[in-house]
Amino acid sequence: MSATVRVGGDYPVGAAGAERCAPAIAAQRPGHALSRDFYCDGALYEQEVRRLLLRHWHCVGHHSQVREPGDFITTSFCGESLLVVRGQDREVRALLNVCRHRGSRVCTQESGHARGGAFVCPYHAWTYGLDGRLRAARHMPEDFDRAAHGLKAVHTRVIEGLIFVSFAESPLGLEHVQEALAGSARLYGWAQAKVAHRETYPVRANWKLAVENYMECYHCGPAHVEYSRFHLYARPAPLNRAADEQVRARARELGVELHEVDYFALNARAGQEAADSTRSALGEGAVSGSEDGRRLAPLMGSFSDYDGGVTFFDVGLTSNFLAYPDHGLIYRFIPNGVQSTDMEVIWLVREDAGAGVDYDLDRLTWLWKVTSLADKRIIELNQQGVSSRFYEPGPYTPMEQHAQRFVEWVLKELQ
Ligand code: FES
Ligand SMILES: [Fe+2]
Repeated sequence: MSATVRVGGDYPVGAAGAERCAPAIAAQRPGHALSRDFYCDGALYEQEVRRLLLRHWHCVGHHSQVREPGDFITTSFCGESLLVVRGQDREVRALLNVCRHRGSRVCTQESGHARGGAFVCPYHAWTYGLDGRLRAARHMPEDFDRAAHGLKAVHTRVIEGLIFVSFAESPLGLEHVQEALAGSARLYGWAQAKVAHRETYPVRANWKLAVENYMECYHCGPAHVEYSRFHLYARPAPLNRAADEQVRARARELGVELHEVDYFALNARAGQEAADSTRSALGEGAVSGSEDGRRLAPLMGSFSDYDGGVTFFDVGLTSNFLAYPDHGLIYRFIPNGVQSTDMEVIWLVREDAGAGVDYDLDRLTWLWKVTSLADKRIIELNQQGVSSRFYEPGPYTPMEQHAQRFVEWVLKELQ
């Protein structure tokens, strides 16, 4: 019998937040940006955490980060510290990093290997196994029930090498996600990838501003000269139709049958986590997301050659992914507080690729470092502006349709 305990999903909803939520939603002008409260009000943020964020699935990393039994990483989400660990049974579990004695953090390292297959709380040394079971508690009475005091576990699933967690008691189904990732991540061989680099960008802004920014490329022209040089996604969609079709045809010639899922079908199936994927062409002569458009690393998955495109795919509210034929990116949004969000970027390459031999780390990470730093800056400027008492939400443009769609989805779920 597993001693791990499911975390409860019935979080009491604060009355103050509920009172603020309904009028804010009612006042929302269709087709317009969200009002100030949605980015600045702590009580409203708490509503989002409880009603939305803890209910959905979120990617916390790649399974190569916990390759062997005892390997672990710690991460956080909405202020909750998670210990992600591979057990003796090779299952990956996400445990709440909160001691069942008096609540201390149990693991204080960012990553590592649990020596002796155990985690020892630094406070009074209660000792937990890799599956969260309480193995030892010093000087406790005979009748103490150790089985009832294991670390709590949240739902954890590994799909195509990506580790997803949900804090919900009954989480959303993942069939839709599995389908979307089978037609994208699987073809890029992401289960046979490894992490080449990770970078965290703390952003002084509400998590929705960061996600909205990721969802639209209206800003790419003015804010991302480097990205816009080769990514046709930076231009209005009608201009790219022919190039995108060519890339699809080229992938088919290579025997790679990418399955695109329309963003507008997002969350269409009741009770299912949302997922989508889109293929987009790179500019003339470019084959990868590099400074000069040239190749960066050994080809991955089903690709025997470059097809001149990039695939974007997204899961739920905060987990976004980009796949080039020779490397991939996990783009995580981690809400910490009403005006504090981390963006974690994880670069993936084929698992047998060697740094300095098969790829150059500086070249590999150049584009998305430059782009993420620029994004951090514009998102923070956006937060400064929407914090003004005189800020008035303006209209979304056609190039921001995905950001608009995302905001509508958030409002629908908050209702
Ligand atoms: S709080 Fe962890 S052992 Fe006391
Ligand atoms: Fe951007």
